[in-house]
Amino acid sequence: TGGVTTIDPGYKNTGSCESAITFLDGEKGILRYRGYAIEELAEKANFLEVAYLLIFGELPNAEQLAKFDKDIKEESHVDEDMKKILDGFPKSAHPMGVLSSLTSALVAFNPSSVDVDSDEAMYNAIVKIMGKLPVLAAWTMRKRKSLPLDYGDNSLGYVENLHKMMFSRPNKAYETNKVVNDALDKLLILHADHEQNCSTSTVRIVGSSHAGLFASLSAGISALWGPLHGGANQAVIEMLEAIKADGGDTAKYIEKAKDKDDAFRLMGFGHRVYKNFDPRAKIIKKSAEEVLGDLGIDDPVLDIAKGLAKVALEDDYFVKRKLYPNVDFYSGIIYRALDIPTEMFTVMFALGRLPGWIAQWREMRLRKEPIGRPRQIYIGETERSFKSIAER
Ligand code: SDX
Repeated sequence: TGGVTTIDPGYKNTGSCESAITFLDGEKGILRYRGYAIEELAEKANFLEVAYLLIFGELPNAEQLAKFDKDIKEESHVDEDMKKILDGFPKSAHPMGVLSSLTSALVAFNPSSVDVDSDEAMYNAIVKIMGKLPVLAAWTMRKRKSLPLDYGDNSLGYVENLHKMMFSRPNKAYETNKVVNDALDKLLILHADHEQNCSTSTVRIVGSSHAGLFASLSAGISALWGPLHGGANQAVIEMLEAIKADGGDTAKYIEKAKDKDDAFRLMGFGHRVYKNFDPRAKIIKKSAEEVLGDLGIDDPVLDIAKGLAKVALEDDYFVKRKLYPNVDFYSGIIYRALDIPTEMFTVMFALGRLPGWIAQWREMRLRKEPIGRPRQIYIGETERSFKSIAER
């Protein structure tokens, strides 16, 4: 048979590891990073603090946070030859494919990031990618907009600097905006980790072969790209735009989502673990209303989203299957309000998930987990003899 008697497609009922990083309770809609409730962290912490907490296990004191910030800033440059790789892509290339490629290419310019057999080597690889991924993400966006590839300003905070690298213009002073900065910081916190989801499991299994942190992250970025996973935040906005173009006919799309003969799914709805509201969706929905209000934006797509959620949450098909809005359902509405292009939404998810992926990879390496290598049930041909081409 190939060694096992039962399989578990999609690992719906399989645990892959023990982990002390993130706790989810799907029935109660609970999400905690290292024991701290996501609601508290989203309100009281900043993204770099949460990144430190996830990776090293404790909230940093002022000295630890200052050192982490400084070490990351010292690594927030990228070898100039990386621009030649970025240059090779057509402007139409999807930013997730570009980011995954550039992340893997980083290994060539940072060979010491592969062998992390000491705490120091591991720490150095971690601060390198924490510093460089935001640059690569911003450059990916600037390439599409035919803007010069430049750096931000290390006097700014981590998230503010990311925003400046994405949006600065050569001929216009960059103005920071507290509403924008706080919204982005909160969104990155809410995306920072989510136990053994598809992309994190990918990072762990690639890392389990000791392929190195950057190669593992490159694989994780590719897994996140899929519309059933992180790519859903882009798919949600495209769906809401389609409904808007269709005269706001949400009922038609609800019926399409229920139709088994139609591949269409209500994007941003449903979750493998949450069989209740995704706690992140609750916070993001509230934040979307606040941000649009503060920025004086009246986005009809938010109203369509709320209308769609209301109908779906009362529809037997969704109620029976316990399908609720997930993290991706409202996040795109905030990204839009921040003028982030739709095709960059999943890149923002990747930037948020970066510390979670790193934390999970580090835990896997420190616990010396074995290489991931599941078995199968063989259902192919029994033994048969070779036929020459004349006999076929
Ligand atoms: C993320 O895992 C994580 O933690 C992921 C994430 C993270 O932080 O890392 O939370 C981020 O990826 C959120 C999910 C984003 N994806 C989407 O919004 C895409 C739409 N959602 C679905 O494709 C789906 O709900 C999944 C992929 C999220 C979960 O899929 P499962 O757990 O494999 O569930 P399933 O496909 O077996 O569905 C169970 C039933 C099926 O119907 P029946 O066969 O029982 O009749 O529910 C139906 C499905 O057809 N269903 C949906 C639906 N989601 C599930 N029907 C219509 N629309 C949907 N969105």
